[in-house]
Parts: sequence; structure tokens; C-alpha cells
Amino acid sequence: MCIGLSGLAGASAVVVRKNRGLIDNSQALGLSKRDFEIASQAPLKRYAAAKGLIYGAATVSDFLISDADFKASFARECGILVPENELKWDSVRPAPDRFEFTKSDWLAGFARTQGMLFRGHTLVWHQQLPKWFREVVNRQNAEKFLVEHITTVTKRYAGQMHSWDVVNEAIEPNDGQSNALRKSPWLEFLGPDYIELAFRVASAVDPKTMLVYNENDLEYDTPNQAKRTAVLKLLERLKARGTPIHALGIQSHLRGEETALNLKKLRSFLSDVASMGLKILITELDVSDQKLPSDPAVRDRIIAACYEDYLSVVLDERAVIAVLTWGLSDRHTWYSMFSPRSDGIGVRPLTLDSNLKPKLAWNAMARAFDQAQKR
Ligand code: XIL
Repeated sequence: MCIGLSGLAGASAVVVRKNRGLIDNSQALGLSKRDFEIASQAPLKRYAAAKGLIYGAATVSDFLISDADFKASFARECGILVPENELKWDSVRPAPDRFEFTKSDWLAGFARTQGMLFRGHTLVWHQQLPKWFREVVNRQNAEKFLVEHITTVTKRYAGQMHSWDVVNEAIEPNDGQSNALRKSPWLEFLGPDYIELAFRVASAVDPKTMLVYNENDLEYDTPNQAKRTAVLKLLERLKARGTPIHALGIQSHLRGEETALNLKKLRSFLSDVASMGLKILITELDVSDQKLPSDPAVRDRIIAACYEDYLSVVLDERAVIAVLTWGLSDRHTWYSMFSPRSDGIGVRPLTLDSNLKPKLAWNAMARAFDQAQKR
């Protein structure tokens, strides 16, 4: 579990989850595979679908194109695909007056031929903006750029998108702005109403797709309680103004060494979101192992327990309709670059290992789906 790893240096005291109860198991490292046992090796998408849930993952078009084995695993396991980078501004907008959809179109086509759902990420974000952005966009023209961008991109996939992350990571309490809004270029140029505007434009173009506000760092109790509160206030404000918003996306980049996962507080946050009539999607689940011991078997048990603990709480909330991992296999994960280990050994944040074999985390996920209530 992500709790109680303080004794990890000696690799003895790990708190793991077992059948919906937290147990302090000092023999955790001796856990057998039985602790994560599952009934069958049906694909994760089937475990999820049996409960009315959607399972899938983010990936990069080049991985699918160049790696046939990975492509086959992806098609087998996933019921939904989200482009990891191909729909971000720096991908679709190489120049102020030019849109480039080759890669995202390829992914949309792949999803379609495999019978997968397709989701969009992301229309408004402060990161992965093109190089030209700062030179060209300013207070005077920002609204024109934003509206034009959202209109063009959502139109391209109108009727094909299961859901869109309309705005990503707009809250950052540490930035000291009113309503805890992040000091992003969008806030700087357009003021706080850019969020509502983005949802309204997306809805006008593709009224049937699910419009999502996506956010990071909502999973742990500390220091993120302020962020949860600010997100709830933002959602309340948007709802009160009749903004077409349908769901909250909780990114869920978990940390294997984290000790501050308060299951009760997380559960009540989810209920608060659901009580506004919003759905919830787990949009970017993975577990970083940068600070875990080097032994892969030890890491795999801890990571699996993180998956199972987290999902058991999250799936207990019936407003949660989908779970996506940020990648599928340790062969292709953003953490190889963004959160590498100092010992140089490969990271293991996902459910399939780098040989595309299911790990304990895969079993944990299958079990979490299996134990979820039917939607
Ligand atoms: C990451 C991608 O995985 C990387 O390939 C890219 O270089 C940087 O962005 N939160 C998000 C995602 O919303 O878009 C980020 O994706 C991971 C964190």
C-alpha cells in the first residue's frame, strides 16, 4: 500500500491491502502471488465492462506504429484510448495559422478499427504550448486563439469523442491567485472566465461529448486538501453558472512511497463531486517507483497494493465511470524520462512489464474491477 512505507529501507514493514481491509503486515515482502490472485486472464477492459466501467490507457502513436507486440497488447487490454501528447497544443498547432492532425487522426482511426472509445486530452493547459505561443498570443488576441483552437480541434473529432479534457490543471493554491487559480497564460490574458468560455465553446461544437475538468494532485491528503477544496469550489461555480461540464478527471499519478493516502477523506471528496451531479474519471493512473527499493519483486508488490487500495476506494463511488492508466506497459512510460531511478534500473509504474507480461499490478487492477459494484 502507499501507506506506512517508512520501514522500507530495511524492507520489512509495509502496509498492504487485503480484501478491503488494511493490514499491517510485517511479512509483506513474503507475500505470495496468492495475495493478488485473480480468477482468469481476461483483458482488463472485460473485467471493467462486466461492472459497467471503461478501462483503457494513454499512448503515443509512434509506439503503436513501431511496436507490433505493444500494439497487440494495447488492442487486447484497452476499451478506450487517449493520445498521450498528440492533441496538445504543441502537437496540433505547429504554427499560429496551421493545424496538424496526422498523428491524432491515426490514433482516432486505430481506436475506431479496434472498436475502442477515443478521448481527447487536452484543449486548455499551461504546458506543452508551442514555441511561438509566447511571442504571438497576448491579452488582445488570446480569446480569438482560444476559441479558434477549441472550435477547430473539437470539430475535427465531433461525434467521435467519448470525452474531452477541456481544461487541465487550472488550480494551484500555491500561486496565490484569487480562487486558487493557477497563474497560467490563460489566466493572465483572459482572467478567470477562460475556464467557462472553454467549456461553452467545446459544447457548442460537440454537444454530445462528455466535457471534463481534469486535475492533478487530488489523491493524497496532504498537502492537497486545499487543492481539493479549491476544485470543489470551481466545480460549484461552473455548475451554478450553467456551464456545460459533465465530469471531473482525477489524474491519479500515485507515488509508491507516499504515506498520506487518507482513504476516508478521499472517499468523501469523491462523494462531494458526485453530489454535484458530475461523473468522475480516473484519467492518468500510474504509480511512480522512483523512491522504492531496487528489487523489482519488492517494488511490484508495493505498486500492486497501491493500485488495489486506491481503486477499491475510488470504484466504491458509483459516479466513477472509467479508469485510464497513463501508458499500459513499463516498456513505454513517461516516467522513464520524467521520474527515472537514481540506480538506473527501469521503472515499473504500469500493469504490464517491459516484456508485456502482466505484473501483480495487473492482477490488483483486475481484482479491483471484479470487486466493484455494477454500474
Ligand atoms: C506527459 C506525457 O506523458 C509526456 O510524454 C510529455 O512529454 C509530458 O506530458 N499530466 C498530464 C499529461 O495531464 O498530459 C502529462 O503527460 C502527464 C502529467
